[in-house]
Order: sequence, then structure tokens, then C-alpha cells
Amino acid sequence: MASTSNTTDGAGPGVPLGPGAEPAHWETDVVLADGGSTHVRPIRPSDAAALEAFHLGLSPESARRRFFGFKPTLTPKELERFTNVDHHARVALVAELGDRLIAVARYDRHPDSPADAEVAFVVLDQEQGRGIASVLLDHLAAAARERGITRFVAETLAENQPMLAVFRAAGFVEHTRRDIDGVTVEMIIEPTERSLAAVEHREHLAESLSMARLLSPRSVAVIGASRDHRTVGHQALANLLAGGFDGAVFPVNPNAEHVASVKAYPTVLDIPGDVDLAVIAVPVPVSSTSSASARRRVCAPWWCCRPASPRRAPPAPSRRMSCATPCAATGCAWSDPTASGS
Ligand SMILES: CC(C)(COP(=O)(O)OP(=O)(O)OC[C@H]1O[C@@H](n2cnc3c(N)ncnc32)[C@H](O)[C@@H]1OP(=O)(O)O)[C@@H](O)C(=O)NCCC(=O)NCCS
Repeated sequence: MASTSNTTDGAGPGVPLGPGAEPAHWETDVVLADGGSTHVRPIRPSDAAALEAFHLGLSPESARRRFFGFKPTLTPKELERFTNVDHHARVALVAELGDRLIAVARYDRHPDSPADAEVAFVVLDQEQGRGIASVLLDHLAAAARERGITRFVAETLAENQPMLAVFRAAGFVEHTRRDIDGVTVEMIIEPTERSLAAVEHREHLAESLSMARLLSPRSVAVIGASRDHRTVGHQALANLLAGGFDGAVFPVNPNAEHVASVKAYPTVLDIPGDVDLAVIAVPVPVSSTSSASARRRVCAPWWCCRPASPRRAPPAPSRRMSCATPCAATGCAWSDPTASGS
């Protein structure tokens, strides 16, 4: 098992070590193979309860594939160890949706061979097949390269085709060994033409599906759906209803139970079921928080509209950026109704 001490373990100088020294640039939003997205970040000690819930949510088969045996729960010691990493010899990235963990990928540096690390992945059953493990492998490999690791080693059961498919599809130079206990896959995690092409292909596909969800959503949340018919939020909702949109529409308004006779939700995080598109029509900087919530909850594209209230002066460019920036950061559309003459 890899060391948990704050050693430099072969990485370059100046590497921030110790729990809490979390590399901020490892935190990001990613678009997935089905056009949805997820938030990826390093694991934190405060994730213990969420990790416990995550593990309890796994099917016995997924837990078996991850831990090579019957593993219905994680012990307090395991929870402590899994959530306390040094972001160097031990790294774990989680994917989250709202406040739920939906996947974990980790590496443990080999104690005797500091350029090698053992990797393990697990994705909640209902989230499998969306490309989450593939994305986490890319991000974990990038983090590992920063820490001086050149090779990933993974032990999997021979029948674990999804895991083997993820490793194959990553495009790294790999070597597979089969024995009676299962399969050992070794990957040189230096980018190759094939691995770069795999990432580009996946991102291209994900972006186009994400745009498809934006252009033909099956469900829309209108964040800032006001009861006041003069507001852009109310108009966005009213137009959706009047226009014969045949998907689900969810007004989000913390001060109303219903808007235009449709049940409203206090926040986007309270909406049951999937949301394909979030229309954000709340004042800047509330829109920044809302887009962050939308991103965390629906993990879908969003369309950001600043309210066109005649009582309000147009926001300064710097204030507009606080809404546009999170949209642009994930490649989502940004719309300003005033600019388009509405
Ligand atoms: C293995 C696991 C991590 C994969 O996660 P995931 O997010 O579903 O993986 P992705 O969606 O990125 O990719 C799945 C790949 O497997 C392929 N796949 C899925 N089911 C498959 C099957 N029965 N046979 C072959 N390939 C299969 C998919 O087509 C996809 O390949 P593609 O990208 O070329 O289309 C997930 O299934 C899991 O958590 N399993 C339980 C834990 C586990 O097995 N851990 C491994 C221990 S290291």
C-alpha cells in the first residue's frame, strides 16, 4: 500500500503536500458522453459521509468488482483513509452531481517504485456508461504526471469488460497480463497521438450532444420564474408554456409555490428528475450562484438571461462577466435578451 507520509516521493520541488493543500486546478466541470456534465474535484476529509452513502448506493456486483469481494460497507478506518489524501502520493478525484458523489477514481503511488501508481475506479451503477470513468482516467493521469508518475497499474477481474474497455479506449501505451486472479493492466500515461485523439473525439461528441440538449431539451428549468409578468423570467416561462413545449417545465422561485399555475421549486437542486436545460433569469450576481447550482444539480447546459427590468440600469461589463464566465467555462450558451433587442 502506498505511503501516506508527506514525502516528495520523486516529484519535483515545491509540490504542495498534506491534506488540505488541495490543487485548485484539479477542480473542474466536464461534459459527459451523453451531453450531461459533472463536477470533478479532489476528495476532501469532509466527504466521509458522502463517500459512505456512495458506497451504500453501489450494487453488490459493482462493490465486488471494485474491492474483489463482498463489501457492503466501508469501515470508519477506510472512510478516514479514503478521504484523507496528500494530493501527491495518494490522490483521489470524485465526480459529483449536486451534493452526491457519483464516482471516485484514485491512485496510490507504489512505495518502492515512485514512478508507478496503482489505480482504481468506481462509478455509481445508474451513472455507468456515461463516460465518467474515461474522463476521470484522463484527469487522474494529468494529476499523476504533475506528481512525477509515469505508469498506472490496475488490477481488474478478467470479466470486467467495462473497466478494460475504459483502459483500452484511453489510448495510452498499455500492456495487459492475465493470470488466475484476474488481469493486470499497465499504462504508460504519457500522452500519445492515440490518447490525444481519444480525448478530442470524446470532447467533440460530448459537446455536440450537449448542444443537442440545449437545442432540443426534454425538460427545462426556469430559474427566476417570477410571478411578475413584466419580468424576463416570467416571460421565458410563459413562452415555454404558450409555445407548446412538450417536455417538463420547472419554474424555480423561492417565494412562490406556483408560477403560472405550474408547481415551483425553491432551488434548482429541489427539482425531481433530470433537467436538460436551465434558463437563468435572475439578477447578476445571483445568476452566478444559480448557474453554479444549475451546474451542480442538472449538469446540463444553461442559457443565461439577465432580467430586462426597465427599472434597472444595464449591468456593467464586469458584472455581466460574472454571469457569462461560468457559462463560457463549460461551453454553454450565453444570451442577453437586451442585446438581442428583446
Ligand atoms: C468499470 C467502471 C468504473 C466504468 O465506469 P463508466 O463510467 O461506466 O465507464 P465509461 O462510461 O467511461 O466507459 C465504459 C466503457 O465500457 C464499455 N462497456 C460497457 N459495458 C461493457 C461490456 N459489457 N462489455 C464491453 N464493454 C463495455 C462502454 O461501451 C464504454 O466504452 P466506450 O467508451 O468505448 O463506449 C464502472 O463500470 C464501475 O464502477 N464498475 C464497478 C467497479 C469496478 O469494476 N471497478 C474497477 C476496479 S479497478
